[in-house]
Amino acid sequence: MEDLNGTVDESVSWTNKPKVIIIGAGIAGIAAGEYLARKGLTDFKILEASNRTGGRIWSVDVDDDGHKAEMGANWIHGIERNPIYQIADQNHLLELRHANRNLRRRDLHATESGDIVSDKMVKEVDFSYGMLIAECEDYFHSSMPTPEEGDSVGAHLEREFQEKLDKYSNGDRRFRQMVFDQRILLECCITGCDNMSDVSLEEFGCYEELPGVHYTIPPGFEAILEILKKNIPEENILLNKPVKTINWSPSENNKSEEVCVECENGEKFYANHVICTVSIGVLKAACDRMFYPPLPKDKQQAIQSLGFGIVDKVILEFDQTVVDSDVFRIELLWDRDNVKEKDLRYTWMRKIYSFEVVHENILVGWLSGKEALYMESLTEDQIAEDCRDLLRKFLNRNDIPLPKRVIRTRWGNNPYTRGSYSFLAIGARQKDIYTLQEPLTASGCDKPQVLFGGEATHPTFYSTTHGALLTGYREAQRIVKLHTE
Ligand SMILES: Cc1cc2nc3c(=O)[nH]c(=O)nc-3n(C[C@H](O)[C@H](O)[C@H](O)COP(=O)(O)OP(=O)(O)OC[C@H]3O[C@@H](n4cnc5c(N)ncnc54)[C@H](O)[C@@H]3O)c2cc1C
Ligand SMILES: *[C@@H]1O[C@H](CO)[C@@H](O)[C@H](O)[C@H]1NC(C)=O
Ligand SMILES: *[C@@H]1O[C@H](CO)[C@@H](O)[C@H](O)[C@H]1NC(C)=O
Ligand SMILES: *[C@@H]1O[C@H](CO)[C@@H](O)[C@H](O)[C@H]1NC(C)=O
Repeated sequence: MEDLNGTVDESVSWTNKPKVIIIGAGIAGIAAGEYLARKGLTDFKILEASNRTGGRIWSVDVDDDGHKAEMGANWIHGIERNPIYQIADQNHLLELRHANRNLRRRDLHATESGDIVSDKMVKEVDFSYGMLIAECEDYFHSSMPTPEEGDSVGAHLEREFQEKLDKYSNGDRRFRQMVFDQRILLECCITGCDNMSDVSLEEFGCYEELPGVHYTIPPGFEAILEILKKNIPEENILLNKPVKTINWSPSENNKSEEVCVECENGEKFYANHVICTVSIGVLKAACDRMFYPPLPKDKQQAIQSLGFGIVDKVILEFDQTVVDSDVFRIELLWDRDNVKEKDLRYTWMRKIYSFEVVHENILVGWLSGKEALYMESLTEDQIAEDCRDLLRKFLNRNDIPLPKRVIRTRWGNNPYTRGSYSFLAIGARQKDIYTLQEPLTASGCDKPQVLFGGEATHPTFYSTTHGALLTGYREAQRIVKLHTE
């Protein structure tokens, strides 16, 4: 990790300084700008569609005590080699966390009828589950053929787990099944899919997990972004500038090797290089009208193949504490045989697999896929009622009040994200990620006009903040290399 101390790197000697446009002020775009500024290149603009920086990093205030809740990124996934961890650690963002450590550590595993499943049984299921996940990852690493063509992680886990369940008696089986199903719903949120049957078994192991625990950032994940932003001149970041088209055909721009970026409001920006960091959800929806000339066929194909799901959160703020002070999570063990309705109106909440106590009176639940998208269409009052009712069932307590406030995310409906994060869907390959990150060079030009960053362009850390940050550095560095000795 390079030093983010705000000084310009004097060792870089530019042959000429290009003009650069960065599209998107998420962590990939901000990291790219920070890198350029650190290398002494300040002739760049970051064009951001929305009225804030951060994109899928978004910390909001909850309660009056200065506590934050995360609408998007929540955890630093691992420590070793994790640049986000390094920034957080060097800037003392984790200290509060060390102080509060271990206050809450009990996870309740509760069923719909309020039964509690023993920790021993949960541990046994987790052990099998962990082995099965490792097995799934092995297909990628060993290039071993999958049992079936176009096999999915979901189908594999289900087959193998049913086999393991066979040795248990009926009652035991049911509880184990519920714990397993709960782990699958969690896996859907980690992966970012609707159903693990959408996820390629062959490619599952391509995601690289970094060693170490997963920390949250008490002052909010946005603090990471603020640190990077310190190195970027304020006037370089332009908000409320949704980009409509990227014309990367220099002859038509009538300026040598320049790209023309046009915003929705007609404003035009010219640059030698554009770094595009919009989500793959945005690319899926708009890439055929965004680029002129159109993207090469293989890049279009990669954009269509890669998966991009919806993960949302429901944040409930209560007037009072709702669970014992040592409870960290209420794990919701839904019974798959207990689904009487098919209508999402009655089933959407069955996708929430747990509520985590983030502050004593604030619970956060996660859900993915179709149910998440349905939740986005509900009123906050409806969500409050549905969640109160489910907590009453699982905790077997009729005195759970309505939350006084509900904050929920709407990543599926966000026009500048159109989902949550990428995964390798059935049919997609790691090769598609490499195709996606390939820069575009117009015919007759010797340097690339359009470069691609963002979470989905990282071959092994896709779907994460550290992956996104590293792609920003990667593309900025590509530009620096083109113009330095
Ligand atoms: C609910 C949720 C939970 C998550 N949890 C974690 C976690 O715990 N840990 C973790 O590491 N990661 C997590 N992630 C993933 C992480 O947030 C993302 O991988 C990362 O923030 C993506 O950064 P990015 O810069 O690639 O994209 P973005 O943050 O999406 O940035 C792209 C920017 O481009 C802008 N834009 C889009 N279209 C246009 C346009 N036409 N013109 C101009 N600008 C445009 C957008 O507004 C946005 O600001 C989570 C994500 C979500 C949604
Ligand atoms: C930013 O945009 C959102 C959504 O369009 C809007 O609700 C919010 O009020 C805006 N915030 C500011 C500070 O303009
Ligand atoms: C996931 O898909 C499989 C196969 O289509 C289906 O049997 C299963 O019920 C789905 N799981 C969930 C949680 O929707
Ligand atoms: C293209 O550039 C040339 C030289 O700068 C200029 O004379 C000409 O008018 C331009 N054409 C258009 C269509 O802008």
